[in-house]
Amino acid sequence: MSDVPGAGGLGGGGITDPKSDPQYIQFKALPADSGKLNRWSSEVTRGHEFPGAQAMLYAAGVPDEDMMKNAPQVGISTVWWEGNPCNTHLLEFGKIVKKSVEKQKMLAWQYNAVGVSDAITMGGEGMRYSLQSRDLIADSIETVTCAQRHDANISIPGCDKNMPGVVMAAARHNRPFIMIYGGTIRKGYSQLLEREINVSTCYEAAGAFAYGKLQAKTNPGAPGRTPSDVMSDLEQHACPGAGACGGMYTANTMATAIEAMGLTLPGSSSYPALSPEKARECERAGEVIKTTMAKDIRPRDLLTKEAFENALVITMILGGSTNGVLHFLAMANTAEVGLTIDDVQRVSDKTPFLADLQPSGKYMMEDLYKVGGTPSVLKMLIAAGRINGDIMTVTGKTLAENVADWPSLPPDQKIIRPLSDPIKASGHIRILRGNFAPEGAVAKITGKEGLSFEGKAKVFNEEQELNEALSRGEIPPGDKLVLVVRYEGPKGGPGMPEQLRASAAIMGAGLKNIALVTDGRYSGASHGFIVGHVTPEAARGGPIALVRDGDTILIDAVTNRIDITNVDDAELERRRSEWVAPPPRVRRGVLAKYARLVGDASHGAVTDQWDD
Ligand code: FES
Repeated sequence: MSDVPGAGGLGGGGITDPKSDPQYIQFKALPADSGKLNRWSSEVTRGHEFPGAQAMLYAAGVPDEDMMKNAPQVGISTVWWEGNPCNTHLLEFGKIVKKSVEKQKMLAWQYNAVGVSDAITMGGEGMRYSLQSRDLIADSIETVTCAQRHDANISIPGCDKNMPGVVMAAARHNRPFIMIYGGTIRKGYSQLLEREINVSTCYEAAGAFAYGKLQAKTNPGAPGRTPSDVMSDLEQHACPGAGACGGMYTANTMATAIEAMGLTLPGSSSYPALSPEKARECERAGEVIKTTMAKDIRPRDLLTKEAFENALVITMILGGSTNGVLHFLAMANTAEVGLTIDDVQRVSDKTPFLADLQPSGKYMMEDLYKVGGTPSVLKMLIAAGRINGDIMTVTGKTLAENVADWPSLPPDQKIIRPLSDPIKASGHIRILRGNFAPEGAVAKITGKEGLSFEGKAKVFNEEQELNEALSRGEIPPGDKLVLVVRYEGPKGGPGMPEQLRASAAIMGAGLKNIALVTDGRYSGASHGFIVGHVTPEAARGGPIALVRDGDTILIDAVTNRIDITNVDDAELERRRSEWVAPPPRVRRGVLAKYARLVGDASHGAVTDQWDD
């Protein structure tokens, strides 16, 4: 089998892999210059030291002794499960990838990690499981890759938390890796509203429905055209098939950023899930991972500060999700890269917002794909010196080399504005501090909703209280209100539930007198005047726990401040002395474990802290 990479027996015990982090379990591996690719798996497949392991591997599908001794083993981790369009198709992608790996005369082992659908859990108790699923995915892939001594890992994520989860796993196992994004969903169409729609339309319609503002485009109220009929129409047609939510929401934010970091094949983040290009990307995976293995390109070689800078730049350019901040911090923390919330603000200050993409804009990822997709945007930004094209990627080429032959954005396209004519001269994500959030908060302010907001606080001790108030139409138009939703942080939630249901209902109801502030999170689909990730969170006794109805809160996206302006320090201290932490919402199970381990949002809310 001389044409097989890694052919030949081991004849030795290997060395401790010099690129593995000494804080993790240390595995022996063949040296990178051994000319073999079965660097980790050979420990159990060589000779007859582990006959039981080999017997099990034969039973699992290793065809013959030659392959057992010589073929590298590639783990293919799909975040597959059927009940969510973002993930439902990924098992089939995994099968294509498996074939492509086998074509390279390597062994391919498919397995799954669990996932949570943000859109399905949104607004309910299930949403508390969403963020912790990121760390669970990382735990799962680390577990299989390391325990089974895989020589490489190809991960196929689909929904929001999947992408940072698989990258965090890669940073931990640090074996050759590529990510294949499951791809974006196509747009839906509503016959009754006579326009394109997507899942976010449903959430906003809920607010319009509650406030009596939802009606069919023509013959409103006629049989089959009542507000309830419109809701049914939206529910049935917003999501026309497989793929992740289609605006510049969290899934597409993370996919584009991770492509800009060099961890995917070019185009991965903008190919729709059901496009022929996405299938071809899966077919190329075997060839590319072989290159990554042969060149010994490891995740931590790619997860550099420069790569994270690229991630932040593309997120600001495209108007990406605030969740990106949390996930970049978590990925950097896992890869032991010194990225802070101040880096986020620094990049935001110098980076314009260019993309007319939903949620604040008009277009969807499918539209961006049609004008060239992420590689064309990267090509433009590399040429302008905004994105570092010199970073190495999983293909063994630099980012600039990957996109060099890609078509440029057409001059008449309307999705990405020129750098000389931005929507906003600086980024839409702002890191705020002040007496309300001494350790930081993340605001998403595109400028369309103004740059500052001052209003009276109205406080809710959980999201559900606000959702019920909104569905009863109890938040009045008129006086400026800062709706504060607290005890929804990483520890208190637990899990920082996303508050799209509330933010979308506010937009749908046309309540322009509202700012929304929370120690929880927002969906990437959220827009409006919104501030999340308030740190310290209420459950840890942060000032957000001390604010009361009627206090005045000032949010300023120019000075990057968030303050309670009519309460002095002495009064805040007095309130603090009276504050008693509420009992935890959850005492047993995975959320209770998560609440015990999780760190604060300003450091990515990770369960495995980097002790730098
Ligand atoms: Fe999966 Fe929106 S629910 S990306």
